[in-house]
Amino acid sequence: MSRLSGLKGLRARRPSNQSFSWGHRGRRDGGGDPTAEPVIDVRGLTKHYADIKAVDGISFEVEKGQMFSLLGPNGAGKTTTVEILEGLRDPTSGEARVLGVDVRKGYGKIRNRVGVLPQDFEPFDRLKPREAVAYWAHLFDRTLTKEEVAGLIRTVGLADRADTLAMNLSGGERRRLGIAMSLVGKPKLVFLDEPTTGLDPGARRELWGLIRQLKSEGTTILLTTHYLDEAEQLADDVAIMNHGKIVARGSPADLIAKHGQGHSIVLAGAGEDGLSAVRARGVVAELQGADVVVQVPLASDMRRMLEKLASIDTPLNEIYTRRASLEDVFLNLVGARMQEGVLAA
Ligand SMILES: Nc1ncnc2c1ncn2[C@@H]1O[C@H](COP(=O)(O)OP(=O)(O)O)[C@@H](O)[C@H]1O
Ligand SMILES: [Mg+2]
Repeated sequence: MSRLSGLKGLRARRPSNQSFSWGHRGRRDGGGDPTAEPVIDVRGLTKHYADIKAVDGISFEVEKGQMFSLLGPNGAGKTTTVEILEGLRDPTSGEARVLGVDVRKGYGKIRNRVGVLPQDFEPFDRLKPREAVAYWAHLFDRTLTKEEVAGLIRTVGLADRADTLAMNLSGGERRRLGIAMSLVGKPKLVFLDEPTTGLDPGARRELWGLIRQLKSEGTTILLTTHYLDEAEQLADDVAIMNHGKIVARGSPADLIAKHGQGHSIVLAGAGEDGLSAVRARGVVAELQGADVVVQVPLASDMRRMLEKLASIDTPLNEIYTRRASLEDVFLNLVGARMQEGVLAA
């Protein structure tokens, strides 16, 4: 699968003969000009495989300079959507326009303006980053100067690994090399399909830094992920996908405000006895494992509720407050938690 994706990625882009400059800067806030055409415009898109509705009637648009995230479990339809937008798969029905072009008709015109990091990307083991970037550019009829190659490698933070065989790079370094390769055409739009899946937390954070840097340079980014914290940290706009459908859409803050039930207070380890004691004081609470959890929808009620709970005499390990996150949003909307891309009860 990974090799196949790599080849598909290879076909997906054909860099132009523009000279390199990392100077193009865009809006940092991801906000859009309401009169400008969206960079990506998807309407009623479906993709069916026999009886599987991999993509089941989704609509969204992505504005210039935005970081948009398709967030959902394995099998939700993220990659299928992205591959349609990369011009690699034909939709069953609906409309998809990228950079103003119908993906079914005019992809040749835009291929050189789109960068792709396919899911599970792995570079060639026996090439060094310096060679891999030059070779990749060459495959797309583009010759980079030594300085341009070095600049790209520096951009992704691999300057001191430029002459190490890819097989000896860490997982995070190989992914960063993949991002450097996706940038050989200086794309205005980049698709990153699960760029941090399988990486350790440190490597994930390093990649987040790189992705933020790309965005700050004005690149429009479509990021797929099954990591809720990743979408919450990086995205201006999130579409939560499940079973081929978009179940919610908005900025992380808006989704949390709308579907997240505000703040909560946790009486860690208070157990059944704690729950009874809290309820005896007329407070609505529930047991989550051994913890008693009290929802506090309005932040302004927080202090009063903390004082009330602190005065209850029941054994517990600690009291802490918790702000709703995309995890709560996801649980509320999908009815299950997600761990490593798999839905759990
Ligand atoms: N080429 C294919 N043939 C048949 N079914 C496919 C194909 N590609 C994807 N699917 C199915 O479509 C659904 C969505 O897959 P995918 O887009 O890869 O989801 P995600 O990227 O969110 O994990 C899954 O049920 C998957 O098994
Ligand atoms: Mg996928």
